[in-house]
Amino acid sequence: MNKNIVCIGAGYIGGPTMAVIAKMNPDRKVYVCDINKKRIAAWNSWNYELPIYEPGLVDVVKEVRGKNLFFTTDIKSAVKKCDIVFVGVNTPTKMFGRGAGRASDLQFWEATAREIKGYADGDKIVVEKSTLPVRTAAAMEAILNEGRGKREEGRGGEGPRFTVLSNPEFLAEGTAIKDLLSPDRVLIGGPETPEGKAAVGEICDIYAGKDGKWVARSKILTTNVWSAELTKLAANAMLAQRVSSVNALAGLCEATGADIDEVARVMGADRRIGSKFLKAGPGFGGSCFKKDVLNLVYLCETFGLHTAAEYWSGVIKMNDHQQERIVSRLFKAMFNTLANKKIAMFGFAFKADTGDTRETPAGYVARLLNEEHVRLAITDPKAIENGKRDLAGLDGITWEKDPYKAAKDADAVLLMTDWKEYPALDWGKVFKSMRKPALVFDTRNCLDAAALKRLGFRVLNVGK
Ligand code: NAD
Ligand code: UGA
Repeated sequence: MNKNIVCIGAGYIGGPTMAVIAKMNPDRKVYVCDINKKRIAAWNSWNYELPIYEPGLVDVVKEVRGKNLFFTTDIKSAVKKCDIVFVGVNTPTKMFGRGAGRASDLQFWEATAREIKGYADGDKIVVEKSTLPVRTAAAMEAILNEGRGKREEGRGGEGPRFTVLSNPEFLAEGTAIKDLLSPDRVLIGGPETPEGKAAVGEICDIYAGKDGKWVARSKILTTNVWSAELTKLAANAMLAQRVSSVNALAGLCEATGADIDEVARVMGADRRIGSKFLKAGPGFGGSCFKKDVLNLVYLCETFGLHTAAEYWSGVIKMNDHQQERIVSRLFKAMFNTLANKKIAMFGFAFKADTGDTRETPAGYVARLLNEEHVRLAITDPKAIENGKRDLAGLDGITWEKDPYKAAKDADAVLLMTDWKEYPALDWGKVFKSMRKPALVFDTRNCLDAAALKRLGFRVLNVGK
């Protein structure tokens, strides 16, 4: 078995994960492949205009690209060169047929399995990096090992043998490099067979890094494959559930005079609850929470666990409601008419420090405002290109790099993403350029509301 690694899928997961694996394993060659030529060209661009924005990523890519990290569209020769194959292709929510709107769409993933089988000329360890429904590894193994027969049964054993492991990724966008360099834990699920155990050992060695300098062995957790697959969905569902819980409480705070930031601070001081993921806001976005919770709902339904399915559906329902509530409150605060008013949306990415706009709350809110014939000026430090693609075809939307220009002559600023640039703006200057009365709706509670009020703004927050 050679030590080289190939990853199929050069997206938000494949790119950063493999860059850090290459950095921490200088004695291994790491190939990252994609069918998307434009994406690979961007990963290879001379001026490091990478296809995704992630703090610290450019530095890691500069360190290893061309040395032991290679981006390529030549999947065939990369698979031939490597005995360890990571699969990090997209697994979006299926939008057609059986399980539409809930199940995972596994077409990209299955195509990849067939590609690996077609190109492999030796035994391979295949590692699921994508987030997948429980028992996907069994399907993958069935496709990969189809027609081989079992050596021990004395019929066949011919052709490469594939051992499938699950190694879900827990990094969050915006902090990917930090999360990869010092993860809370690494999870590797494998079959409880001698080959399975040996394969798990190989992947443990990658995460331990050269000379054991990366992840401590105590943080590399191993389980069976099904536990690993389910843990990933469960972890995302638990995190999403916390956001929906705190947002459910935020509405009650607004109605009663309680303050959600105070409530969260005191709740979170209880070590049994913990302080993370208790920030009220516009609801969760991103490519994974919604899709993974829906996937869990579908799994529960499939196994006849209808009450559990309904329970997890509530997490999504609460999230949608939070975005609708933002528009209702804005509507009421702006005298029950939004038509032809100019609203400056500050931030379009689903969270700060990323240009990713998949499932961003700002997108949903923008569409609702568009239905009210609002003139929307959207600004974001990193997400304008993605945003333009998301909202293509909608009239009445302009995009501004400069937040001051976006706010000029606006009736309201609607802050949707907690970029650190926004609290640092000259809000006196913003106020002067706006129509009066000037409103700020800070859905992230990240601005100094008292200071804004002193400047003359009317201020709305979430949960207070
Ligand atoms: P992405 O869409 O950014 O990247 C996936 C890439 O796979 C695309 O570039 C696509 O062209 C490529 N691809 C699809 N089919 C292919 C094929 N047959 N051959 C070669 N390349 C192919 O998606 P992502 O955000 O990187 O997510 C990938 C997986 O990782 C998903 O299952 C997701 O749930 C999981 N995940 C994502 C994150 C995250 O922060 N984005 C975190 C943890 C887990
Ligand atoms: C999330 C998980 O945190 C990762 O562990 C996981 O690997 C990843 O999903 C995945 O599977 O893709 P990510 O979606 O990148 O990561 O970002 P988060 O930091 O989790 O934020 C998700 C959303 O929740 C954002 O819209 C964020 O603004 C929102 N959020 C988060 C809140 O509204 N309040 C909080 O307290 C925390």
